[in-house]
Amino acid sequence: MDVFPSWLLSTPFILFSISFILLIHLLRRSRSPMASTTFHLPPAPPTLPLIGNIHQLLTKNLHQTIWQLAQKYGPVMLIHTGFKPYLVISSSEMAREVLKTHQEIISTRPSNEGSKRLSYNLSDITFAPYGHHWRKMRKVFLTQLLGPKRVGWFNQVLKMETDSMIKILSSNHVNAPVNLNDLFLTLVYGVVFKFAFGKTYRGEPLFNGVTLKEMLDESTVVLLGSITDMFPSYRWILDKLCGWNDRLDKCFANVDGFFEMIINEHLQTVGETNEDEKDFVHALIELSQKDSEFTKDHTKALLLDVLIGGTETTFVTIVWVMSEIVRNPRVMQKLQTEIRSCVGRKTEIDASDISKMTYLKMVIKESLRLHPPAPLLFPRDCSSHCQIGGYDVFPGSCVVINGWGIGRDPRHWKECPNEFYPERFENMEVDFLGNHFEMVPFGAGRRSCPGMKSATSTLELSLAKLLYWFDWEVAGGVKNEDLDMEEKGLFVAHKKSPLLLVPIKHKWEN
Ligand code: HEM
Repeated sequence: MDVFPSWLLSTPFILFSISFILLIHLLRRSRSPMASTTFHLPPAPPTLPLIGNIHQLLTKNLHQTIWQLAQKYGPVMLIHTGFKPYLVISSSEMAREVLKTHQEIISTRPSNEGSKRLSYNLSDITFAPYGHHWRKMRKVFLTQLLGPKRVGWFNQVLKMETDSMIKILSSNHVNAPVNLNDLFLTLVYGVVFKFAFGKTYRGEPLFNGVTLKEMLDESTVVLLGSITDMFPSYRWILDKLCGWNDRLDKCFANVDGFFEMIINEHLQTVGETNEDEKDFVHALIELSQKDSEFTKDHTKALLLDVLIGGTETTFVTIVWVMSEIVRNPRVMQKLQTEIRSCVGRKTEIDASDISKMTYLKMVIKESLRLHPPAPLLFPRDCSSHCQIGGYDVFPGSCVVINGWGIGRDPRHWKECPNEFYPERFENMEVDFLGNHFEMVPFGAGRRSCPGMKSATSTLELSLAKLLYWFDWEVAGGVKNEDLDMEEKGLFVAHKKSPLLLVPIKHKWEN
C-alpha cells in the first residue's frame, strides 16, 4: 500500500518546504502558553524535530513495532507523527479505561480529507463524530441491514455462496493447488454484495472500467489518509505537491459512480419488489422517501460502511483461520472429527449443526486473538481532557489500541501466548463480544463492530463446509507445519503470501 510514496520524502522541494514549516512551527511553539505548563504526560520515546517518531514507525508491521516500543515505555505511551499526538494503549486494563470508562469522550473517530470525502462529509457510521447523527445511522444499519427481519435472507445468501465455493473446489483437478485468497475474496464479496445490494456484481467492471477489488483497495488507501495529514496546518500546500487531491478526486468519482449505479438500479425495482425480497438498498430508498432528513448522500455513506467494514476484515480473518488450521494438523484433525460427527452423512450443514460445534468456535476465537484483522482497531479521538492510567490526555489526541499486542500479552495469555492453541478457551471465560478486554478484535463499547454476528456466521459456515468436504495439504510439497505466516499491511494485517492449498476430497469409511 503506497501511503508513503518513496519520492515524497526525498524530493528536494519537499525538504525545502519542510524546513520552512519547521521554522514557522518552532517560532509558533516558543510563543505557546502550553510550553510553560507541566502535566503528567505519558512516557514517550524521544522524538526528532518536525517528524516526531515517524522514522521509528515506517516499518512493515506497525502494530509489532509499537508493541516493542510499549515494552520499554509502558501500556500508555505517547508518540508523535508530525504534529499529531497519538496515545498508544497496550494492555487490557488500559483498553478497558478507553473503551468503557471513558467511552463518552473517546468515541469520535479522527478524520482526514480522504475519510471526509468518501464518507460524504462524515455522514456514515464509521467516520461520523459520536453524537445524534452517528446514533441514527447506526440504528438504520442495525435494523435495515442486520436486524431480525434480514436474518432469513442472510442465511439464504450465505448458504448459496458457500455452496458455490464448495462446487468450485469440487471441480478442481485432483492434486492441483487452489489460491484460497481468490476463492475467499469471491466468497466474501458474494455474501456481502448479494445480501446488501441484491446481486454480487461479480466479474462486472464497475465504473470507468475499475474492478471491485481495485476500487476497494484504493478506497482503503484514501481513507487512511496521506502523510500530509500529519501536518494539518500545511496540508493545503503538501496535498498539492504530492498529487493527493487528484488521487482523492478520482477515487471518489469511482466510488460515487458505483453507488449511483446501484441506487438507480434499485429505484427501478423498489415499487414492484415483494416486501420479503427487498434488500438494504431498497430499504434505504424507502427511508429517504419517508424521512426528508435522510438524503441520498446518507444512503451512499451507509453503502460505504458495508463495502469497507464488511469485506476486507472478514476476508482477512478467514485466510488466517484457515492458515492456522492447516499449519496445525492436530487441530485440523480434531476439528474435522467434530464437524463430521455433528453433521453425519447429510449433504447440508445447518444452524443446529453449527451450534453443536464448540471446538470450531474456539478455533475461530484463537485465530482472532492471534490475528485480529484490524490490529490497531479503528482509531478514536479524545474530545476532552481526561486521565488514562493516571496520565493526562488532551483533546485532539488520537487514541490507538494495540489489539494485536493485547491478544498476545504474556501477562494474560500465560500458556505459550504466540502459539495457536484453541483448547486454552476450554476453561476460560474470555470472549470477543466486548465484555472482556484481553482480546478485542471487534473493539468494545458504543463504537464496537455492528457486523460481528454476521461475520462470525460467515466464518463458521464456510469453515465447517471446507473441513467437512475436504482434507487439506499445503501446495508445492511444503510440510503443513512450515506454512509461511508472515504478515503485511499497515492497518489491516494480511497474510503476506497467498494461501495455496491442495483440497483432497474426503473419503468416507462405510
Ligand atoms: C471478522 C470480521 C470483522 C472484524 C474483525 C471487524 C472489526 C471491527 C473493528 C475493530 C471495529 C472498530 C471497533 C471500535 O472502534 O471499537 C469495527 C467497526 C465497524 N465495523 Fe466491523 N469488523 C468485521 C466485520 C464487519 C462486517 C461484516 C460489517 C458490516 C456488515 C462491519 C461493519 C462495521 C462498521 C459499520 C463499523 C463502525 C462502527 C462505529 O463506528 O460505530 N464489520 N469493526
